[in-house]
Amino acid sequence: MQVIVNTNENINGTLVLPLWQDSKNMASGSESGVHRSLKNQIENILAEGDFKAKAGTAMTLAGTDGGKALLIGLGKEEDATLQSMRESGAKVTASRGKIHGKMLTVKFHGMKDEHMAAFVEGMILRDYSYDNYKTKDEDDDSDDGEINVHVTCEDEKHAALEAAADISSAVATGVHLARDLGNAPPNDLYPMEFARQAIEFGKAHDNVDVKVINYDEARTMGMGGLVGVGMGSYRKPCMVIFEINGDKPGPSPCIVGKGITFDTGGISIKPSPSMDEMKYDMHGSATTFGVMQALVASGHKDRVIGLTCMAENMPSSNAQRPGDVITTYSGKTVEVLNTDAEGRLVLSDGLWYAGTHLNPSYMIDLATLTGAVVVALGHEASGLWSNNDELLNNIKTAGDHCGEIAWPMPLFKAFEKEMTDSKIADVRNLGAGRWGGSNTAAAFLKQFVPNMEGTDDQIPWAHLDIAGTAWGAKTNKLVKNGATGIHVRTLHHLITGL
Ligand code: BES
Ligand code: ZN
Ligand code: ZN
Repeated sequence: MQVIVNTNENINGTLVLPLWQDSKNMASGSESGVHRSLKNQIENILAEGDFKAKAGTAMTLAGTDGGKALLIGLGKEEDATLQSMRESGAKVTASRGKIHGKMLTVKFHGMKDEHMAAFVEGMILRDYSYDNYKTKDEDDDSDDGEINVHVTCEDEKHAALEAAADISSAVATGVHLARDLGNAPPNDLYPMEFARQAIEFGKAHDNVDVKVINYDEARTMGMGGLVGVGMGSYRKPCMVIFEINGDKPGPSPCIVGKGITFDTGGISIKPSPSMDEMKYDMHGSATTFGVMQALVASGHKDRVIGLTCMAENMPSSNAQRPGDVITTYSGKTVEVLNTDAEGRLVLSDGLWYAGTHLNPSYMIDLATLTGAVVVALGHEASGLWSNNDELLNNIKTAGDHCGEIAWPMPLFKAFEKEMTDSKIADVRNLGAGRWGGSNTAAAFLKQFVPNMEGTDDQIPWAHLDIAGTAWGAKTNKLVKNGATGIHVRTLHHLITGL
């Protein structure tokens, strides 16, 4: 979608009119440039109360010689939030359809800067579909080409809205990249293919450096977690490290992603129903890559690190077994009691490598780690754990701002104790019972956060369990279906303040 913010009165294509609930007429000033017969039609509809403009509603007008219009309900002005405005903007894109074509003109009038910006952001974010694998009907060109949106507002608000729209467009490239990666089928997106795409991304940008630790190197380096999970697959595991603006001094934010390109469960194999959804088990890595893209596109100038732990969790004669004891990159040993608790194993090496080699100011990992977090929070929020209250609050605030809720969860000592009482190793990869599974998983990860150099204090670290938010959230109005690109915007906002 191309968004052009201007102040002229021309209406290009369909007129899109955002309206507060129970508006009885068009806001004075917003009618300029609207053909008289279309204006009369709209005024009649509003005066009669035939369109109440409740949040989430839309009405298409067509058939007059005054052009077409799309009325969008914003709900009550006093109830408006950034998220409700994003959702209203998304409604424009969702209800556009063939009737309105690819050219729209949104007319704002008398609206707050941040409300207009959020509306435009919602329009841009919702403009996504994954059709790489659909055979194109050569005779149907209705889906060809970009949507062009002209946005008009008062002169004095123009510059701020244009700047906000530019940032939203940049960040959306990261969200949409994360969604593309998440939606990609697992036969085509496997660990080294993800690495290949990351290397291409590095080559395309002067300020991006990408390094890949391949399977042989991971073995030599003693990355027993990554190797243990990935060795059962013909498609071997790897670690991908992104560095943006590496010439700038650190310490810098570091994002770490779980990248299981398919999770069968391994020898502790999962049941068949919905197993296809385990292609999304790499969404942590998709978000990490998406954040890198968003930062580059928005012109971020400081150093940022991304690291993804890529593996395919398969059963085979070469797969790890329940009962195996592995030595992770940290030197700590882990008793593998369930091969389906694999995300924590690959992340143990990722967190330790990031903390000891990449000079992070803080580390945030994202992982579709547990079914238990979906039991706890449904699809409405990601679980958020941290060893540092300030980092936790900053992530929570950034998530609230972006409408991507991250909900604080506990790191009780009892959970750490439960995960470190293996009879034969330092740590066990499975809780002692079935309760609190997302908390014990977080407590496991905490064992692999190194201390800050020369201190007894751990590096500030946070863990986001995105198993409920990475896909399947029917209430997410910015996403029609499939991978959501969750937390690309949260982390971009956290890192840049934009
Ligand atoms: N990738 C899954 C977690 C998952 C399950 C995400 C369902 C989204 C939906 C993870 O690797 C896993 O299998 N976790 C196990 C852990 C258990 C064996 C301790 C789980 O949650 O059942
Ligand atoms: Zn698993
Ligand atoms: Zn998994």
